[in-house]
Amino acid sequence: MSAIRLDGREIAAQMREEMGSEVAHLAKEHMLRPGLAVVLVGENPASQSYVRSKTQACQELGMHSVQLDFPASLSTEALLGTIAELNADESIHGILVQLPLPDQDEERVLNTVSPEKDVDGLHPVNLGRLLRGEEGFWPCTPHGVLQILQRSGVEVAGKHAVVVGRSPLVGRPVANLLAQKMEGGNATVTLCHTGTHDLGYFTRQADILVVAAGQPRAITDEMVKEGAVVIDVGVNRIEDATRERGWRLVGDVDYAAVRKKARAITPVPNGVGPMTITMLLYNTIEAAKRLGGVQ
Ligand code: GUN
Repeated sequence: MSAIRLDGREIAAQMREEMGSEVAHLAKEHMLRPGLAVVLVGENPASQSYVRSKTQACQELGMHSVQLDFPASLSTEALLGTIAELNADESIHGILVQLPLPDQDEERVLNTVSPEKDVDGLHPVNLGRLLRGEEGFWPCTPHGVLQILQRSGVEVAGKHAVVVGRSPLVGRPVANLLAQKMEGGNATVTLCHTGTHDLGYFTRQADILVVAAGQPRAITDEMVKEGAVVIDVGVNRIEDATRERGWRLVGDVDYAAVRKKARAITPVPNGVGPMTITMLLYNTIEAAKRLGGVQ
């Protein structure tokens, strides 16, 4: 068996087309142009690349976008001041501070973003709303994972979903969403992490396996059940002398081996990655509508 390739680029393109029409409609009927501010501190090459993609995607949809770059030496106080200005700026509906921050107090920074502009879904109020099943903003990568499953017609309800990784950015929220009694949820969920003994024992039971371990080849073919649906959230740069730039991207799953066993699998790149950016745009449009009083 060879798995169906769950192409995040295709699903993202479909969603962005829908959102482009919505942005045009908001401009024409409501004189509302959704605006996103992305804040980058320091010069981490991966973060620079992500931020570029986010700003570019915004512009492609006709949204307003601002990118603010600061040196790694920026003080936490100065960063909090910038966020306060963005909170008060009526042309900005969404604020994203790219993580990881080099040296600033991440918790204070995330807590300062207005929950109504927190399109990253990382403010405690939005994570609390997620946990309670209330309307708020879901973090972009977990939201993207749910969209891939839903738009690919993968049945989630009643299945056993195993999530590997418990980060607040991905593992914990995705496990919670998959377990929620809602469309696209209602799974039985097991959350595995670095303290799990015999990880393979659990992953082999997964009908749906979501991997956000941050480690190349964390999941090999003998750890996957025949016919499972595998979502690889990992983005790892590994050395590759055959590439001019000297590296390539791989996920957390041994793709070549696991695709022979799985029913469906996301590739890396072009799996979850494009969906993360798409859900950021989605959340920003939602934020603009809520702040602008548009249904
Ligand atoms: N760094 C890696 N992923 C993310 C994300 O989803 N949001 C933010 N703010 N930073 C990240």
